[in-house]
Amino acid sequence: MKPVEIKEFGQLPDGQMVYSYLLKNKHGMMVEFISYGAVMRSCVLPGNQGLDVVLGFDRLEDYLASMNMENPPYFGSIVGPFAGRIQQGVFSLNNKVYQLSQNHGSHHLHGGIDSFSRALWIAKPQTAEQSITLKYVSTVGTDGYPGEITSTLTYSLTDDNELKMNYKAESTEDTIINVTQHHYWNLGGHDQSVENQSIQLNATHFLDKNTDNIPTGNFEQFCEKPFNDLTTGLRSGLDHTFVISDQSEIQASLSHPTNGWKMLVKSNQPAAHLFIGCGLPENLNGKQGVSYHATSGVCFEMQNFPDAPNHEHFPSCVLRKDEVYENNTIFHFVNNDHV
Ligand code: GAL
Repeated sequence: MKPVEIKEFGQLPDGQMVYSYLLKNKHGMMVEFISYGAVMRSCVLPGNQGLDVVLGFDRLEDYLASMNMENPPYFGSIVGPFAGRIQQGVFSLNNKVYQLSQNHGSHHLHGGIDSFSRALWIAKPQTAEQSITLKYVSTVGTDGYPGEITSTLTYSLTDDNELKMNYKAESTEDTIINVTQHHYWNLGGHDQSVENQSIQLNATHFLDKNTDNIPTGNFEQFCEKPFNDLTTGLRSGLDHTFVISDQSEIQASLSHPTNGWKMLVKSNQPAAHLFIGCGLPENLNGKQGVSYHATSGVCFEMQNFPDAPNHEHFPSCVLRKDEVYENNTIFHFVNNDHV
């Protein structure tokens, strides 16, 4: 098996180098990561002459600048320590009240200002397989989180066209955690619109939310049985957390109407947060001169419920200091016309 290809991608303002890592499988599927934000920068499917199905930027400068936008898109990055919003950035744990950074109006979003998405991860390609392990240690008190959190993230590309993500965290003190991935997928290619692609979910309910996009604690039903296509009405402003119905093997899927590609999402997480880039500004300059827009891609963020620390009936998001948190998510690409 060929070794993972490593290249310099760019330099951070403090002089540290960001590298890119290219994984390839035997069918010619290629996935590229960069060590800034543990970003997946491209995902090229086999057999279609470079069908790149994730949104991204060509230059490190664009990733850095995007994090200063009013609504940062978090293209391809790992999101944490806590994905989604936490009301007023406040939570209680072990009878103590913690104030997290308020980086989204008065609320906390996607881990705050010095979040995992902005961190420089240390990457180690594995020699025996098409796999890369990235590590990041966030210091005690970063964005108000208790404990030093050690994150270990392995992405592997198999010869069955599966992209496997295994994320693990340990903390030196009890804390809260909810880590996810923010890849924007488009099975027609990153220069297309996802409007005509169909989404299926192993869910019947989503979390009701207030006007600040924060869960109210109530659940809303959108269909009677899981794996219904999402209704057009819901898709037009899709930014919702869907409650996974059961631990069936497949939790979600995205299908292209004509090119045969389907992405199956398998995960150990209790929710799928689906986001169509409705907050993206029109004409955001992306890779290869492509202008991104509100329906350029859809994120399948496999995670716990946003604002979980403030709702006792939501699944626990507490990570005790002697425990290991894990998010295992697989994106499996299938196409009967190809491989
Ligand atoms: C999503 C979130 C959106 C928006 C986006 C980043 O996960 O649900 O409301 O914040 O990330 O632009």
